[in-house]
Amino acid sequence: MDILIKNGLIISPPMEFFGDVYINNGKIELVGENINKPAQKVIDASDKYIIPGGIDVHTHLDMPYGNIKSRDDFHTGTIAAAFGGTTFIIDFPTQQKGERLETTFMRWFEKSESKSNIDYSYHMIITDPDVLDEDDFNFLVEKGITSIKIFTAYPDRLMLNDKQIFNLMKIAKRYNLLVLVHAENGIIIDELVKFAISRGYKEPKYHAFSRPEIMEAEAVNRVISYAMLLDVPIYVVHVSSYEALRVIKSFRERKNDVLAETCPQYLFLSIDDISRGNEDDYKYIFTPPVREKWNQNFLWDALKDNSLQVLSTDHCPFNFDDKLLGKEDFTKIPNGAPVIEHRLELSFNGVKQNKISLNRWVEINSTNPAKIFGLFPQKGVIKVGSDADVVIWNPNVKRIISHKTHHMNVDYSLFEGMEVFGKAEVVISRGVTLIENDQFVGEMGQGRFIKRREFSMNSLD
Ligand code: URP
Ligand code: ZN
Ligand code: ZN
Repeated sequence: MDILIKNGLIISPPMEFFGDVYINNGKIELVGENINKPAQKVIDASDKYIIPGGIDVHTHLDMPYGNIKSRDDFHTGTIAAAFGGTTFIIDFPTQQKGERLETTFMRWFEKSESKSNIDYSYHMIITDPDVLDEDDFNFLVEKGITSIKIFTAYPDRLMLNDKQIFNLMKIAKRYNLLVLVHAENGIIIDELVKFAISRGYKEPKYHAFSRPEIMEAEAVNRVISYAMLLDVPIYVVHVSSYEALRVIKSFRERKNDVLAETCPQYLFLSIDDISRGNEDDYKYIFTPPVREKWNQNFLWDALKDNSLQVLSTDHCPFNFDDKLLGKEDFTKIPNGAPVIEHRLELSFNGVKQNKISLNRWVEINSTNPAKIFGLFPQKGVIKVGSDADVVIWNPNVKRIISHKTHHMNVDYSLFEGMEVFGKAEVVISRGVTLIENDQFVGEMGQGRFIKRREFSMNSLD
């Protein structure tokens, strides 16, 4: 079906102009004023914005966690994403110890193939580099998986030691893979956790007290130092604190391929949310943890001044009952939060409050993720020849977030009762309408695995 969208404010960074968009064969075929092309479907976007579909580069769908799994799979998670205006995600296959990367890939591909309702890609989490050789990295490159993720946290499970990190960065340089890092000092944090438990400090708030900002900053400093020494680009995921940000900013003065993201939960939630002393505290346990509220303005400023380039969600939902597995001991609370549906609307509150511009809002949610992760100009832009991943955003509606109305497969909301402005009214993925009239009307499982190009600083110009 071809679609003509008329009279919207087209926001495609750095541009912003009134006009029409004509979509045919899954691509944007025309962009301009007064397009008079007969189309099977014509949508009036007066008083609305026409933006490139959101790109969420940090999700954990169908992710095993002990005996349970994150509650959204590629079907439910991508429907929820689409309701929020996101038309592309990058998820994280996790290498099991001793496993070759082709096996890891296949395990994850079974979860997503014919199930994902929007296009997607993967970053490969490497937990056991010592069993890998050039075949593994050639395999990633062939598949267009141009980024790997490492952890300095979670000893015995995901964490790599410094030697492994350093050597993996050398390999990443050879294969042009962008290295993503979850940066917290897992060794010291484990000591702090043991100390807390030994003193009987077992409530949720001790999750945050045992993962202090300074241990995030230490790991950020360490991995960026290695990247600096080896002259490789680096991308720090889910930056949560001023301390970590300060390190990133100081490195960026010398090296502009130090890249980083934050997530809505760090912009809107704080340590107050896990310190009420009731069962609600369990809902807000994710890693890195919520911080003191004053950190939030620094994160907003960093999104504005490009110290942070991307807003992602780290979507990793668990039901309230799952969270209560840690009722007697915070270390047993599954870490992670349901966010995939709310990224655009929550950050649009930042536009309303003049924390970021409209253009910047689109940039951090779509254009920059596309540029950094080798998808631009196929995605992340409203341009002739690009994939027709298009959202019609109505900035004039006001809504209250609630678990009763959200589409994520989880029985509580992190943002219950919060007022948000704006809504993804029509969501189109490669020319197929997914969301319209508050309904999912898409073709089930139409999302495709997309090969990404390698990271290049030039794409960020
Ligand atoms: O708590 C979180 N963020 N869970 C998902 C895994 C991770 O650390 O990103
Ligand atoms: Zn993480
Ligand atoms: Zn994560």
